[in-house]
Amino acid sequence: MSASSFLVLLGRGCTQTFRRPQLALPASFSMVQLRLESSQAVPAARLPYRVKVNAGKRYAWCACGHSQKQPFCDGAHRTKAPTISPLRFTPEKDQNVMLCACKQTKNAPYCDGSHFKVIFQDVVKSVKGVFK
Ligand code: FES
Repeated sequence: MSASSFLVLLGRGCTQTFRRPQLALPASFSMVQLRLESSQAVPAARLPYRVKVNAGKRYAWCACGHSQKQPFCDGAHRTKAPTISPLRFTPEKDQNVMLCACKQTKNAPYCDGSHFKVIFQDVVKSVKGVFK
């Protein structure tokens, strides 16, 4: 519908509502998207969590990033990322630790500084968005 015919209809008091056409994706595409979403961890935050852990107590560190009880697992991976399991660990002594929140660490569940890479990628994305 052209803009002029829309204005004519509007002038006549037409109350028809216009809907944005739905983008029809092939079933295989949406399945691929679902697979990608369920197999990749998402950053829960960009900086690590400082947590006091107790010796001998078992913890389950959220590896998928979907938990609402970060940095620990609340079972959200079962529905949102079924291919990712939490990492269970038992500290040997009472201490304060930095647990990874970006979910990119190579030393899970502890922060290894990989969040700087995530932050840098975010900055690059925003700069690219500005100069589009
Ligand atoms: S928060 Fe993930 S490596 Fe630091």
